[in-house]
Formats: sequence, structure tokens, C-alpha cells
Amino acid sequence: MLLLSTFVVVLAGLSGAKPLASKRWNNVAVKHRWVEIPRGWEYHSTPPGDHLLDMRIGLKQDKLDELISSLYEVSDPAHERYGQHLSKEEVDALVAPHPDTVEAVESWLLHHGINPVDAQFRSASGEWITIRVTVAQAERMLDTKYGVYYHPASGSSVVRTMEYSLPAELHSHVQMISPTTYFGTMRSMRSTSFIQPQTTALVEDADSFAAEISPLAVPASCGTTVTPACLRAMYNTTAYVPKATATNKLGVAGYLQEFANDADLQVTFFKSFRTDAVGSTFTHVQVNGGLNTQSDPGVEANLDIQYTEGISFPTPNIYYSTGGSPPFLKDDSTPSNTNEPYLDWLNFILNQTTIPQTFTTSYGDDEQTVPQDYAISVCNLFAQLGARGSSIMFSSGDNGVGSGDCLTNDGTNREIFQPAFPASCPFVTAVGGTTRVNPEVAVSFSGGGFSRYFAQPSYQTASVTPFLTALGTKFAGLYNATGRAYPDVSAAANGFQVVIGGRTSSVGGTSASSPTVAGVVALLNDFRISEGKAPLGFLNPLIYSTAKSGFNDIVSGSNPGCGQAGFTATTGWDPVTGLGTPDFLRLQALVA
Ligand SMILES: *[C@@H]1O[C@H](CO)[C@@H](O)[C@H](O)[C@H]1NC(C)=O
Ligand SMILES: *[C@@H]1O[C@H](CO)[C@@H](O)[C@H](O)[C@H]1NC(C)=O
Ligand SMILES: *[C@@H]1O[C@H](CO)[C@@H](O)[C@H](O)[C@H]1NC(C)=O
Repeated sequence: MLLLSTFVVVLAGLSGAKPLASKRWNNVAVKHRWVEIPRGWEYHSTPPGDHLLDMRIGLKQDKLDELISSLYEVSDPAHERYGQHLSKEEVDALVAPHPDTVEAVESWLLHHGINPVDAQFRSASGEWITIRVTVAQAERMLDTKYGVYYHPASGSSVVRTMEYSLPAELHSHVQMISPTTYFGTMRSMRSTSFIQPQTTALVEDADSFAAEISPLAVPASCGTTVTPACLRAMYNTTAYVPKATATNKLGVAGYLQEFANDADLQVTFFKSFRTDAVGSTFTHVQVNGGLNTQSDPGVEANLDIQYTEGISFPTPNIYYSTGGSPPFLKDDSTPSNTNEPYLDWLNFILNQTTIPQTFTTSYGDDEQTVPQDYAISVCNLFAQLGARGSSIMFSSGDNGVGSGDCLTNDGTNREIFQPAFPASCPFVTAVGGTTRVNPEVAVSFSGGGFSRYFAQPSYQTASVTPFLTALGTKFAGLYNATGRAYPDVSAAANGFQVVIGGRTSSVGGTSASSPTVAGVVALLNDFRISEGKAPLGFLNPLIYSTAKSGFNDIVSGSNPGCGQAGFTATTGWDPVTGLGTPDFLRLQALVA
């Protein structure tokens, strides 16, 4: 109500002062520009001027610094605020834009004939405004031209632009506007898993197999054929019985066209690999038109849910299927969904009062393909989840230090290592991959390196510096020594037995590692909660300090890529396996 009357006044004021008002918005400056079309995409055509877009405006958060310092305090085991996570209301208050920011953005919208009260969506804190505009209108507002761009590899078409501008005054108020220069869509992004046809999948009834594994000896077979029993033995969770199942939850974030299949999990997978769980299930939550097509199980979705359940059972698991309206079709009047990874899901989850204490996501992109202002927006949303008390795991990617020619997209065409986002966000826990047992070694595809967008957070300096010192001048210029270093931890990544459409396949990728670590973290959260303590929340300040000795250091293997040998796993932290793989029993003692 208050908003409404404010607009009326502003509107009335504007009509009398039009020249002044337009002058206010005349001086525009580029907000983001690509020098070349993002790799993998090609220009297709001009979109119709009346094509509708849902324009999402991210307003600068007034007390972001306070949010980040709160996040670090409540996540640092040495701080008196440790474990005192923030409520939704407390976080919303910190991320709300300053009234001057709201005024500036709303005046600009009014100048373009858009009444902000007609917004499709405003987040509770006011930091996001979504308005429905035509392409022609968006082009006027952002001083740009949109194109239809096509991604042959995935068949995706999107309406995007090579650059956009904003009035100079708005640069200090607006974090980012989409859809503009971020071309990634769920379909063009990589999910980090792949079927491994070369490995023989377990075909026989594996009941006996599951029973054979003693928690104290990890059989050699686990080096090539990974089951929940293997992982529970390797990471010492076999004997732990969850108790806080009324409170503790584990969330899997899945995206477009990936559905987790109930029958595959309940009947086939549990019967073969986790007999005590037969018949139990997980919750499906559909976000923003996400579907739940049981006839079309996804490899990634089934891998995720089968292994989070396989380790954390009977902890309740939730599979979030985030959709979006269909991709761009020229003659379709439906607004083309921005179809952007993370933002829909993050806006949805951050709007819930109670959220799972542990999350895993297995999607990623080369950092350089994500505009920096966009990456910062998304990364800050993960900070909100951490401040609320959730641990966020992300797979580190399956391309070692980078895939393909690894050329920069800034016009200079230099060859550099290609860090992955969101693994490079300092507010998530990035999970790399290992293979074999007794001992585990780094798997060659394990994504790792150093961000070029995010500075190295202080929580990891003491662990990363020895690695860099030992590396010396090797690979100088190919990576950013002052950037956020990842992965943080790792887990098995090869030969996971996954049931897809009733058949067992062998699946690999760091997207096997991320749900594995999430399963272990969910059990640690169960332990903490059942002892009347807070969940672990944002893990990194803890695992790089007091809980460091809870990981099995992985000391051999490397992650080649970009035509280079890649980094080498070594004693202590390394950009192949991070701090190592989790030992639940040791971690349990360390977080008690
Ligand atoms: C965890 O399991 C590994 C491998 O089975 C074993 O070597 C280690 O001692 C175990 N840790 C604890 C604390 O029991
Ligand atoms: C946020 O939650 C409130 C209260 O549950 C609900 O009314 C609103 O529609 C939600 N908004 C979004 C975008 O989900
Ligand atoms: C290295 O990372 C920092 C952030 O720590 C960033 O400001 C800088 O631009 C990066 N340099 C390169 C060459 O990527």
C-alpha cells in the first residue's frame, strides 16, 4: 500500500518535470559487453519486437558486507557467533536494497512507462524485481539490440544480447539485469556426469555384495565398482544411525528435463544396494513449472538421489525439479523464459522459512562464460543460504584444469586454465573426484584451479599457500594465484552403479562425488542436530581449520587439461582433490 501511494506521487511529480527526468536517464554507460559471441553459440536472427521477455533486475543489496561478515562469523568454529544462523527475516533485512536504490530503479522504470507495482515478481527483501517487457522496450531501456542465438550442441535458442547499458546513475544501484549477456541455459550447461560404458555394471543381484562389505575393510572391487556399501565403508558412515530425521533434510537441486525416478530408487536400487531402505522414498518439489516425468528418468537426477539416499537414509531427501517455460520459438506468444540456471531455484528456496540443512548440485559452466556481475549475484545468493545454516556442495567439473582449446573470450585469445562456476564461488563447497581404493587417488578429470572472478577467501590461505609455494613458477600465467582456489574436498567419482529405467549402469563424474559428500555432511548434520546443536551451515571456514584432520589427504594423481599436464595432488590441499575425502568418524569427533 505504501508503495502504491509513493508511485502515484512520483508519477505526478514526473509529469511536471519531464525534461529534467529524461535528462536524468540520458547519460548511459555500458554495464556488460562481450567482445565475441560466447563459444558454442551462433547468431540466428532478429527476434520480433513484440516478443515478450521477463526482465529480471537485481538491485544492489544495501548491507551485503554485513551479510558476508555475519556468514563468516556464524560459520567460524572459533567465533562466539558460531552456529547462530540467521532467520529468513534477518537475511532479508540485510539484502534489502537501500531506499535510494529502490527510488532510482523505480523512477527509471516509470520513465519507461512501467509501473513497478505491475511487476511479475518482487522478492521479499525487494532485491529482485521482474517485469514483463517486449524486446523493443528492453532494447530502449538497455540501449541495445537483442538477437536470437542458437546453441547447436544442445539445440537451445535464446534471446540475448552482446552488451547492455544503463544510465550512469543506475550503475551503483543495479547489480545485474537479465536476460542480457548470460547465454547459459540449463540445456547448454554441462551436468557433470557421464555413463561409463567401458566399465561393467553389476548385473547380478547385489544383496550379497552389499552384505559382504565390512566397515573396517574396503574391498578392492570398490576401486572400480562403486555402491553405497563401498562409500559407507570408505567414508566410515556404515555404523551411524540417523536420529534427527524429523528435522534434518537433504536437498538435491535438479534442473530442466532431469527427473528422478521413484521406482528406480525404491524398487531396483534399494533392493540391490541398500536393502534396509526398500520402499522408502523422497519428496519431489517442482519449482517454476518444473516437471516430474516418471517415464523419463535422468542419469544425473537418478545418480544424485540414489547416492544421497544411499548414504543418508533414513534422512528425508528432497529432489527439486526446476523448470521454466519452453525455449524461444519465433511464433510463440509465450514469453521466452530466461531459463537461467540457479536464479529461479535460489529465489524459490530463499523464500522458504525452513530449508534443508544440506544441498548438492551437479551443474557447472566455464567461469568466463558467465558475466562477472551475474556470477557475483548468484554467488551472493549462496551466501544467503549459508547464513541461513545450509551446507552447499557443488561438483567441481569433469575437465581437469579445462577442456578444449582453453582460449580466453576477451579478444586476446590467450590459452589459460578454465575455472568452473559455481565451484569457484567462495561460498560453496566444491567437490572434486577420486578413484580406486587403498589408497584413493585423484581421478584425472577432477575439476580444479583458481577463480579469475573471486579473490581467495582468507579461510583457505593457510592451506593453499604451501601448494602455491611448492608450485613455484610452473604454469605461471595460466592460472590466477590470488583467486579462490578449489575444489575444497573430494570423493569417489568413478564406476557408480546407478539404476536408470530399471537397468544398472556405471556412471562417473564429479557429480557422483558431490552427492556422496552431501550424504556424509547430512549425517554430520544429523549428529549435530540430535545433540541439540546447530547444523554445520557453510562448511569452508570449519573444514579449512579445526576439521581439516577429518579428511583423508589424497596425495597422487593429477588433472590434465588445456593441453597441459594439470595440477598434481600432493600432501595437504591441492587443486585436484582439495583437502581430501571425508572420514565421517573423525569428522564426527571434530564437530562434537
Ligand atoms: C575409517 O575408515 C578407514 C578405511 O576403512 C580406516 O582406515 C580408518 O581408520 C577409519 N577411521 C576411523 C576413525 O575409524
Ligand atoms: C514467497 O512466500 C510467500 C509466503 O509463503 C508467498 O506468498 C509468495 O508467493 C512466495 N513468493 C515466491 C516468489 O515464491
Ligand atoms: C585474479 O583474481 C583477482 C581476484 O582475486 C581478480 O581481481 C583479477 O582480475 C584476477 N586476474 C586474472 C588475470 O584473472
